[in-house]
Amino acid sequence: MTPGLRPLVAGNWKMHGLAADGLALARAVAAGGEGIHAEILVCPPATLVAAVAAALAGSPVATGGQDCHANPKGAHTGDIAAAMLADAGATYVILGHSERRADHAETDAQVKAKAIAAIAAGLTPIVCVGETLAQREAGQAESVVRNQVTGSLPEGFAAAGGVVAYEPVWAIGTGKTPTEADIAAIHAALRQAVGATTRLLYGGSVKPGNAAAILALPDVDGALVGGASLVAEDFLAIARAAG
Ligand code: PGA
Repeated sequence: MTPGLRPLVAGNWKMHGLAADGLALARAVAAGGEGIHAEILVCPPATLVAAVAAALAGSPVATGGQDCHANPKGAHTGDIAAAMLADAGATYVILGHSERRADHAETDAQVKAKAIAAIAAGLTPIVCVGETLAQREAGQAESVVRNQVTGSLPEGFAAAGGVVAYEPVWAIGTGKTPTEADIAAIHAALRQAVGATTRLLYGGSVKPGNAAAILALPDVDGALVGGASLVAEDFLAIARAAG
């Protein structure tokens, strides 16, 4: 944790949630989120952003999107503009998640363009970076994430309150996590790259059982949670572990 920065615990629901279960989950998080020190965010699939944001209005839990297009509008079938997410009630957007970098071949330059669009629409971007297992085994983890940060973060990112999430690709959804020393080393490198005021989240198999130890590390200012964010009690336990 970085002194002076309010921790952020963000749930990335990915492609999970129909209206009934998604709204029930959001309401359960809102009810349990009262009195928790950390800022809490849920990022439902795009179809549920408006309904979840409406259900969470007046609660301590914010709503975010999982991606946006770099353009403000236009002929981009199936895409969503940052202003549309904001209009639906989102205040954050996850960008450059490794699943999008892999499934949709998103480049650092595209992520940067999306971050510029998000900031212009009044959204806070959460930009994800992280090395593959092959890159870690080759000793390249730190250089990979440094390069991703350099390529993906636009000017003005820190001033806009932008957040960076370190998510080793091999730790996502696998139950594997880096050692605490490895997480701390990457976060220290990221801190050097982004400055003192940017919150740095760790993501990748964060669970109630490992959250307290990970969140206590220096320069870990919160968590980006996938699987465990789909169970309200688990997600809330992680949020409580953030202090
Ligand atoms: P996980 O996913 O918690 O299921 O590993 C994290 C993420 O992809 O954001």
